[in-house]
Amino acid sequence: MSAFRNIVVLTGAGLSAESGLATFRDPNGIWAKYDVEDVATPEGFARNPQLVHEFYNMRRRAHAGVTPNAAHAALARLEQHIPGTVIVTQNVDALHEAAGSRNLIHMHGEALKVWCIACDARHAWRDDLSTSTPCPSCTKPGGVRPDVVWFGEMPYHMERITRLLSNCDLFISIGTSGNVYPAAGFVAASRKSGAHTVELNLEPSQGASLFAKAIYGPATAVVPAYVDRLINGA
Ligand code: APR
Repeated sequence: MSAFRNIVVLTGAGLSAESGLATFRDPNGIWAKYDVEDVATPEGFARNPQLVHEFYNMRRRAHAGVTPNAAHAALARLEQHIPGTVIVTQNVDALHEAAGSRNLIHMHGEALKVWCIACDARHAWRDDLSTSTPCPSCTKPGGVRPDVVWFGEMPYHMERITRLLSNCDLFISIGTSGNVYPAAGFVAASRKSGAHTVELNLEPSQGASLFAKAIYGPATAVVPAYVDRLINGA
């Protein structure tokens, strides 16, 4: 039985890479092809909403065609064996849910949800969006946007995440480059509360030196192996 009871797992795009979803900052990543200012900021949406809709329509279609990999499955297994496990994901795909994880926080929102800025309603959404899409609740066109947190906006559920980090005894960071705050600051916050900290990634992240332990390799190899060791009390 594991010595750890309250585990926070931060996940990033690298976790879904082997499911076929592009990461952001790898050489052929999303930000090598699209200007983040144009497609992932409120200013970009105000300037050219249809361009932003086309960007997320492309990503929504990509998400619809993929399945969870062995790393997602291992994290769902971890939660079954250690119920105090919570996943805080930066990812906007639905692969953690598809793998069976339940204690899950989408701090950057979800690509398969939309938010109406006219009436504040949120809806599950798998189709394309355009500037003329009427809101399913208030039926007003033009107010519906992807329910994704853009640069310059406040990530979701930060109070709950801060509480979890101050109470965890193990913090695991998987598949993230540690480039974007506040997520990149979670390792320092969990260390402050005395947690053991582990990075599982393809290569050292920006915050690599802050972790007590690191295991590098593809997520589908290193995550199941590490989860098995945790469950067996290693
Ligand atoms: N297995 C494990 N790690 C991998 C794999 C893999 N198969 N492939 C790539 N990685 C690692 C990369 O080495 C990199 O460190 O995953 C990380 C991906 O980093 P980013 O592309 O920067 O993605 P992420 O850290 O999730 O970005 C954070 O930035 O653009 C915003 O909102 C967006 O949520 C995103 C945030």
